[in-house]
Amino acid sequence: MIVRPLRPSDLEQSSKLHRDILSTEFLARGGTRFLRQYHRAWIETADCLALAAVDDQDGIVGVLLGSTSPNRHYRAMLRHHGFGLAFLLLIQALRDPSFGRELVATRTFRYARGALRSLLSGLSDLLTWRRRDRERWEGSGHFGVNDRIGEITHVMVSEEMTGRGIGKALLEQARIAAEQAGLDELVLVTMPELPSQTFYEHLGWRRVGERISRSGEAFVEFRLPLRSPG
Ligand SMILES: CC(C)(COP(=O)(O)OP(=O)(O)OC[C@H]1O[C@@H](n2cnc3c(N)ncnc32)[C@H](O)[C@@H]1OP(=O)(O)O)[C@@H](O)C(=O)NCCC(=O)NCCS
Repeated sequence: MIVRPLRPSDLEQSSKLHRDILSTEFLARGGTRFLRQYHRAWIETADCLALAAVDDQDGIVGVLLGSTSPNRHYRAMLRHHGFGLAFLLLIQALRDPSFGRELVATRTFRYARGALRSLLSGLSDLLTWRRRDRERWEGSGHFGVNDRIGEITHVMVSEEMTGRGIGKALLEQARIAAEQAGLDELVLVTMPELPSQTFYEHLGWRRVGERISRSGEAFVEFRLPLRSPG
């Protein structure tokens, strides 16, 4: 097994793995088509941390998603892929009414506000030519002190391959990438119902506590200090 960056050719397999392994997660219930596009959006957006663990036949046995600059990554993903992803969620909501009800109850307002902000920001960039300046700034690698925290959002290993060091290898590779990116810390959240909490503690992550997401869901937060050069 090796760990390498997640590629566009992996998306079919990575989205199926996501659907099967994290089946209780809201996004996973958005369907494979949505997940495929979600993974594509993830890897096509700057600052992504997206890794695949593959077997001898280059088949996907594990996936890790995260970001070295979560806010910037989220904003860019929303800007470039937000409407496409929202459309696919809407289709799934029509197919699966219980998913639709949850979408309306927990996310509609937040997603609509995000889309509006993204639209206004795009228009403002167009009018003032701010975009070019900002891209120059963003490409320079000088971010505020608060931006030196990376995030891991998903870790999944295929059921038949658990217990073989794949999850650990994915997290280790993410840690190395985060240190190379000059980050001070990695943060990770997981759903309270998953047994993976002891897994993270076993690998040296510190449990910070329970939180409530902006969509009203409970999750548990873990942190890992990094030893970045400089
Ligand atoms: C949790 C998960 C990522 C672990 O991956 P894995 O490949 O099975 O774990 P590994 O084989 O790499 O285990 C690494 C170490 O952690 C230990 N470990 C594994 N699962 C553990 C658990 N639930 N509790 C405590 N320790 C655990 C292993 O014994 C091993 O210890 P060692 O290095 O001292 O020998 C995987 O089981 C999974 O995908 N679960 C479902 C999805 C999920 O919960 N994802 C996390 C939330 S996003």
